[in-house]
Amino acid sequence: MSAILLTGGAGYIGSHTALALLRAGFDVISIDNYSNSNDEALKRVQKLAGRNLQSLQMDIRDEPALTALFKQHRISAVVHFAGLKAVGESTEQPLAYYDNNVAGTITLCRVMQQAHVKRLVFSSSATVYGDAKTMPIAESAPRSATNPYGQSKLMIEHILEDLAASDPAWSIALLRYFNPVGADKSGQIGEDPNGIPNNLMPFISQVAVGKRTELSVFGNDYPTKDGTGVRDYIHVVDLADGHLKALEYVQQHTGIDAFNLGTGVGYSVLDMVQAFADKNKVPVPYRIVARRPGDIASCYADPGKASQLLRWQAKLTLDDMVQDSWRWQQQNPHGYQE
Ligand code: NAD
Ligand code: UFG
Repeated sequence: MSAILLTGGAGYIGSHTALALLRAGFDVISIDNYSNSNDEALKRVQKLAGRNLQSLQMDIRDEPALTALFKQHRISAVVHFAGLKAVGESTEQPLAYYDNNVAGTITLCRVMQQAHVKRLVFSSSATVYGDAKTMPIAESAPRSATNPYGQSKLMIEHILEDLAASDPAWSIALLRYFNPVGADKSGQIGEDPNGIPNNLMPFISQVAVGKRTELSVFGNDYPTKDGTGVRDYIHVVDLADGHLKALEYVQQHTGIDAFNLGTGVGYSVLDMVQAFADKNKVPVPYRIVARRPGDIASCYADPGKASQLLRWQAKLTLDDMVQDSWRWQQQNPHGYQE
């Protein structure tokens, strides 16, 4: 039987997708260099699924190792999560981001081409919309990037578009994630950021558990309902399900298509703080501070295309997001490094 290859399968979204794939009966191979993850995540995934996957330590830029992997296994499609994702770090280390994300994707695609595996689901991001002028954002909105991380995602989208145009056998889905949060209901797998979290939900969780004293809310003078930034938070379990739908889609269609994976609903920073505190009955002290450079006021998806073509819709609620994030944080106060 052929397998689905996940690059970056031990990461936050990769591990939840691995679980969804195993539960749906797929054979799964994960490659990861563990630069931002721990193989404990996939051990837990296997326990939760009651089935094994094959997990290998490998860098997507290691062309000989990748080539050997494609020779050894029958791979029907690739879901490509591997990459670096910290916006701030990308401005300090642009070469590392272009090398990992862009050069890594080129290497992966070259190996796939040689192996005649031409079905690819790629982790893109709503960051490719830059500072969008109209909300909600449709896939046809103009694209731009404001930092090297965003630039790397945009470059990869262009490279994959050129690749699909060069050879009609390719079948590619660009999944533009909005803001993934939450964790599997078991509390066994979740987001485990290194050091001080950049993103809102892991920061709130660490404040609630007492690891950090308070949340800094970056600005309350945006043109939004309460002045704080508005985003389209999407539960990672819904997101994982979107990958299964995208895999079905690339089995049935050739060419390249982009899909927003979001709920279509925007919540402010204070909405998130309040939902987390109320639902979990735990205080989340916060303070309003200056805006974070590079942040935009609002960003939420028009998820209509994914609903129509992938037959995918987010189902989980804000309550699920804050409760599941909290369960993971409480059960694993130090992430996977217990
Ligand atoms: P993550 O860091 O948890 O997962 C990425 C995984 O890729 C990690 O396990 C890391 O060790 C691995 N990796 C990195 N470089 C590699 C390389 N050269 N070779 C092999 N493995 C490598 O991040 P995530 O949140 O799961 O994100 C997955 C993908 O989704 C990334 O491409 C990210 O840019 C994209 N994305 C994430 C978000 C988000 O907010 N989490 C939003 C939009 C897009
Ligand atoms: N925020 C705070 N305090 C914090 C962290 C965040 O107030 O400590 C606010 C931000 O200002 C923003 C909102 O919470 O208004 C969400 O911020 P995140 O950092 O969680 O998410 P972003 O929307 O800034 O960025 C995310 C991903 C990026 C991706 C972008 C667009 O982290 O990788 O979405 O898809 F590029």
